[in-house]
Amino acid sequence: MAEVVILPTKEAAGDLVADAIVRLITSTPDAVLGVATGSTPLPVYRSLAARSAGLDLSRVRAFALDEYVGLPAEHPESYRSVITREVVEPLGLDPQLVHTPNGDAATIQHAGADYEAAIEAAGGVDLQILGIGTDGHIGFNEPGSSFASLTRVKTLTEQTRRDNARFFDSVDDVPRHCITQGLGTILRARHLVLLAFGEAKAEALAAALEGPLTASVPGSAVQLHGHVTVVVDEAAASRL
Ligand code: GLP
Repeated sequence: MAEVVILPTKEAAGDLVADAIVRLITSTPDAVLGVATGSTPLPVYRSLAARSAGLDLSRVRAFALDEYVGLPAEHPESYRSVITREVVEPLGLDPQLVHTPNGDAATIQHAGADYEAAIEAAGGVDLQILGIGTDGHIGFNEPGSSFASLTRVKTLTEQTRRDNARFFDSVDDVPRHCITQGLGTILRARHLVLLAFGEAKAEALAAALEGPLTASVPGSAVQLHGHVTVVVDEAAASRL
């Protein structure tokens, strides 16, 4: 059973998770973080950045969950760019130690296996930050994803493309494919920290935490993990 922490604001949630990360890095300076994109984890990164002055983050390693396929890495909305902007630069991480799946179409056939090998070579992820999509996806594991899945190419659902259109000029500019850590990959992380804020996430969160284990709700895979912390606001928790 996951531990569920309900806090009044995103900022309080960000502080709580940042505290856990500070404790991890203090005891393990080369800890491996699993970082997520989307708006949900931003309060965590901001809270961490605010205390990074007194903290040595130079040896921290990180793996992102996912990437669009076919966007140049330097595109401002590629997840490589987003992670650089929101995580690497504000926290002062060593960019060489921060990995994102390679969404370059030319090498996509072995990009999944390469990423799995890199995570394994790092000794696995210590703490994985997760958001949840309104359709219950984690990473970019859309409904129908196997609980055993590893890093691979997926097709984005229309709902996810519409949800993410706000980052692009129009929905037509949102890529149709992505490369994402699988649910099986995510479940190997030693500690999962799932964040959700706002009423729009309430249904997906309740289905993930309290509904049946089902590939229709990829987030329900977290029920299979022995160490899950869920940090949410009251609106996201309203259907629990
Ligand atoms: C995106 C990302 C996920 C993220 C989710 C929710 O598409 N691939 O990793 O958790 O959708 O995004 P947001 O936090 O902006 O609501």
